[in-house]
Amino acid sequence: MSDDGDEPVPIGVKLGSTRTVIALPDGDDMEIIRTLTCLATYEDALTGEERVLYGDQAATEYPDRAQFMLRSGLPEDDDRAELTKKFFDALIEENDVPENSVVVYAIPTIDNEQGLANLQAVIEDSPIGQEHVESYPESLCGAIPAMGDGLEAINEIFVSVNMGSTNLEASAYRRGEQLAPFATGAVTGNEVDRTITNHVEEETQGRVNIDKTTAREYKEEHADFVDFEPFTDVIQQPGGGSHEFTIERSVMDACNEYLDEAVDEVANSFLPELANDYMKVYQLALDQPIVLTGGMACIPGIVDEFEERLSEELNRDVEAVSAENPDTAATIGAQRIAAKLSED
Ligand SMILES: Nc1ncnc2c1ncn2[C@@H]1O[C@H](COP(=O)(O)OP(=O)(O)OP(=O)(O)O)[C@@H](O)[C@H]1O
Ligand SMILES: [Mg+2]
Repeated sequence: MSDDGDEPVPIGVKLGSTRTVIALPDGDDMEIIRTLTCLATYEDALTGEERVLYGDQAATEYPDRAQFMLRSGLPEDDDRAELTKKFFDALIEENDVPENSVVVYAIPTIDNEQGLANLQAVIEDSPIGQEHVESYPESLCGAIPAMGDGLEAINEIFVSVNMGSTNLEASAYRRGEQLAPFATGAVTGNEVDRTITNHVEEETQGRVNIDKTTAREYKEEHADFVDFEPFTDVIQQPGGGSHEFTIERSVMDACNEYLDEAVDEVANSFLPELANDYMKVYQLALDQPIVLTGGMACIPGIVDEFEERLSEELNRDVEAVSAENPDTAATIGAQRIAAKLSED
């Protein structure tokens, strides 16, 4: 495919600490590229050259070596920035993401100038986005597909809560302007995974130790606030034989603790700050549905449960909504902004 003379393609990008998601139009459809944000290198057995593997393949084939370079959320130092660049360039090359493009990428609301500058460099120095590159907050991008088929969210006043792997973020938006940004690293998907690991050890009377990846998979496959079903798994024991066990409580205990803490942060840290700085906006925003975005918002039933617990905590009725797929919502929203920018 030749890029010359064609219209630039509008592309949305989110480089997350757990997963990276890219969205680009494919005829009338949207192509979604979704992969684990990790990288493994190995030496070509014939030529001795360094080869790069990324994503699920790297995690599965090289579990001993795969590096999640954004584990803390952003590429904070030069080494991580270099790894992130390698990862992103390999991803783009393998998927033929077009260079002649307008790229909008979602950025976390974290006070980390160096990390954000490194992320910016990774995207801007990559082959894509030759026409234009711009960033928007992840919690704004993620709210866009939750609020309509177009860019309705950009004209509204509302609160968005982004439930990610390394941070819980909350902001109010006033026609796209971010107000009272809040973030905490204390209530996170990663913490849920650690808690599941500990609970599983207790629930099995010390017989089963799972790693963080397995805990994340249990959560992603089984967590459900509406109808959770106990599930069984098998571990191979050292010295042979296997041990089958059933998990009844560990996953949902961890998720319930998470949700209580998330509601507490929103009700007792973020919202009081917002009310303090922008009383009127606070009142207007709480009359609108609160948008939940990010991977943790994918757990079935979490939106209704958040709505109920937050209403109780605030002693007033609030509504909550999310996009159909909260984990890819930020990328979809970024893509819609890119499409609008490339029109103008
Ligand atoms: N279907 C699912 N069910 C439960 N949890 C999920 C699901 N999909 C993703 N998650 C969890 O959501 C988290 C990742 O969310 P997201 O992709 O929004 O984070 P991120 O942007 O990479 O992280 P951060 O912004 O915090 O750095 C992980 O903890 C992941 O396990
Ligand atoms: Mg995120």
